[in-house]
Amino acid sequence: MYSKIVGTGGYLPARILSNDELAQRVDTSDEWIRTRTGIRQRHIATAEENTSDLARAAALPALAAAGIAPADVDLIIVATTTPDMVFPSTACILQAKLGARNGPAFDVQAVCSGFVYALALADLMVKGGMAKNALIVGAEIYSRILDWSDRGTCVLFGDGAGAVVLVPAAEPGVMSSHLHADGHYRDILAVPGTVASGVVSGRPLLTMEGNTVFRFAVKVLAEVAQEALAANRLPASAVDWLILHQANLRIMDATARKLQLPPEKMIVTVDKHANTSAASIPLALDLAVRDGRIRHGHLVMLAGVGGGFTWGSVLLRW
Ligand code: ACO
Repeated sequence: MYSKIVGTGGYLPARILSNDELAQRVDTSDEWIRTRTGIRQRHIATAEENTSDLARAAALPALAAAGIAPADVDLIIVATTTPDMVFPSTACILQAKLGARNGPAFDVQAVCSGFVYALALADLMVKGGMAKNALIVGAEIYSRILDWSDRGTCVLFGDGAGAVVLVPAAEPGVMSSHLHADGHYRDILAVPGTVASGVVSGRPLLTMEGNTVFRFAVKVLAEVAQEALAANRLPASAVDWLILHQANLRIMDATARKLQLPPEKMIVTVDKHANTSAASIPLALDLAVRDGRIRHGHLVMLAGVGGGFTWGSVLLRW
């Protein structure tokens, strides 16, 4: 018994914030952001939009592509670092917004690796017969946890959501998943604030050691992709499409080089979406499925890395 993806969806808020517009707020330039990160623009949610709204907007086209009515969704996992509220989970709020009430719903908190973590879990649950279908969503509103006066971080992120639907299958589908974490690196990328005794305690905005994150990301993305290839006894050249977490084009290019894969095999959205954390991989997957690049039989490598630190890969036969 295996599981396979039968529908994808994505949603980006309408408002686009360009590098030039950002340069009017902080001491930066379009040229600096483009050459250091590959980012040209990002989407920003409105004050009325919540993460569960973005998640719903991505889930509906994924469910339509899968031919599953929203009320018939069984398992819901939302990967997010920017939930609507402390609790209930964004997954439960999404379940109500979809009009579903059949099975379990919960959030996964693995920052930018969240979607890969959630997909790995859903694969186990669908294969194990715990769910007859699963909706897995990565959804984020990072614009609410950024310090908009810190040019070292605010230029890097954007808002969005991506979703997939997983069902049982006789053949893969999901060929393997490999997940890792090392909490000793917890301080290099964090939102250290928390809610305690009715007030926010500690800084509730993103802090990052950019250079350390950069080096760590390249190292573990390449390692975890190689781990997946070794487990499946496949050479890197067998990969048709590499979908990395879209943090920075230079991180992605360096990872592809380490894997000896040509840049043309990479799906790139970081230029238009910036880093949407847990949403970045499913958004890129949806784009490449819908524009016809990913086709039946293709080998697709997903690899993510994020705060924690966490990292992981999922290898798919489309
Ligand atoms: N505009 C102009 N100058 C800037 C900006 C900016 N937006 N940000 C930083 N600078 C300046 C710095 O102040 C520094 O100036 P100084 O030399 O006078 O001190 C100079 O640019 C160089 O700074 P570096 O940090 O060395 O620049 P670097 O080339 O490393 O790029 C960056 C910084 C883009 C943050 C890079 O380190 C990076 O991408 N790191 C990974 C971060 C990331 O992707 N995080 C996402 C979350 S992690 C994840 O998703 C896995």
